[in-house]
Amino acid sequence: MKIGIDKINFFIPHLYVDMNKLALARNVEPAKFTIGIGQEKMAVAPITQDTVTLAANAAVEILTDEDKEKIDTVIFATESGIDHSKAAAIYVHRLLGLKHHARAFEIKEACYGATAAIQLAKGHIALHPDSKVLVLGSDISRYGLHSSGEVTQGAGAVAILISANPKIMTIEEPSVFHTEDIMDFWRPIYSDVAYVDGKFSNEKYISFFQTVWGQFKAETDMTLADFEAICFHMPYTKMGLKALKSVLDEGYNSDQERLLANYDVSKQYSKVVGNIYTGSLYLSLLSLLELNTDLDAGDRIGLYSYGSGAVGEFFSGIIQPGYRDFLQAEKHEKLLKERKELSIEEYEKIFQETLPTDGSALTLSIDEDPADICLAGIDRHMRQYINKNL
Ligand code: HMG
Repeated sequence: MKIGIDKINFFIPHLYVDMNKLALARNVEPAKFTIGIGQEKMAVAPITQDTVTLAANAAVEILTDEDKEKIDTVIFATESGIDHSKAAAIYVHRLLGLKHHARAFEIKEACYGATAAIQLAKGHIALHPDSKVLVLGSDISRYGLHSSGEVTQGAGAVAILISANPKIMTIEEPSVFHTEDIMDFWRPIYSDVAYVDGKFSNEKYISFFQTVWGQFKAETDMTLADFEAICFHMPYTKMGLKALKSVLDEGYNSDQERLLANYDVSKQYSKVVGNIYTGSLYLSLLSLLELNTDLDAGDRIGLYSYGSGAVGEFFSGIIQPGYRDFLQAEKHEKLLKERKELSIEEYEKIFQETLPTDGSALTLSIDEDPADICLAGIDRHMRQYINKNL
């Protein structure tokens, strides 16, 4: 049975910072951020967007009533969730009007979470081919003002519908994964920013890629020639390129040229959004699928997922006939184009805004947030969500 991505969408907040301006404000040569790191813009979440609303906004645009009827599982992957106990999936389940006869839960393993969710979903569909699973990957990446990781922040969500006979991409069976207990990046529960050993994290990202890619080749006899493109988790756009280049000499010139050209297409969305953590690999996939109009049904796409801490996985998918009809390329172009630029002072102010933690009530103004689904306030420690269309 073919199982895979039936629908996929992303959502980002409407605010961004220009990396040239951030560099100047941090006394850094702008080329370090734009060329050395490879980021042009960074999405910034206003206080009216959290991981729940970002995910709900990503999903609301793609689900039909028929999908809603078939979804019996909602898996929410995040490392910047809003509650240690209640799953963000439950809020989204309500905001989307999904049926009660469904499981809804949250999972976590840094940026690997959405991949774990997709593989779980695949197993579920194999047992229940008539059902559909909604996978959400949603995060707000925070390292802190003036930190070395600041340039690699971002915010956004992906919504992925996994089903039998998918319209966009099947997920092939061989999948290779690797886990090691390392401290390259982590966020203790008392901290709202991540701790990171930047250089070590870069090394591990690459060495995990080489490990899972090597094992994948051994298990499948595939080579670089079998892949039209390889999509990477993109904490910043230079990162995946370094990993790709570390294995490129295995291929012929034609493989190298094709994979580098498609890497370039796959980084276009991340370059102007930043690290959206667990959704990041799928933002790269969307960038490739929507911006490379030469892909054909039957093309094989490799996917490298990496979540600090750390788990890495390499797997592959096959593009399905007519896949372009089910993508939202024009909507995404508009979403990216219509964002509002923040000055560095405005960004710093937004970054430091917090919700009350003493139980007092706060009503947020949602008029300036163009998103359909917003956080409208908090009362007695309970977040108040609004879908403007209901
Ligand atoms: P840094 O120390 O500020 O930067 O940290 P650097 O000194 O290493 O410079 C970066 C690059 O800019 C270098 O290029 C410089 O040469 C170049 P490279 O040698 O790497 O190719 N450069 C310039 N280029 C052009 N013109 C110039 C110029 N100056 C310098 N004038 C770092 C960078 C990414 C480490 C930091 O921002 C950081 O710690 N970020 C967060 C961690 C991270 O993103 N790690 C990635 C792998 S781990 C991962 O992906 C998981 C993650 O998503 C979390 C999760 O799983 O949940 C992070």
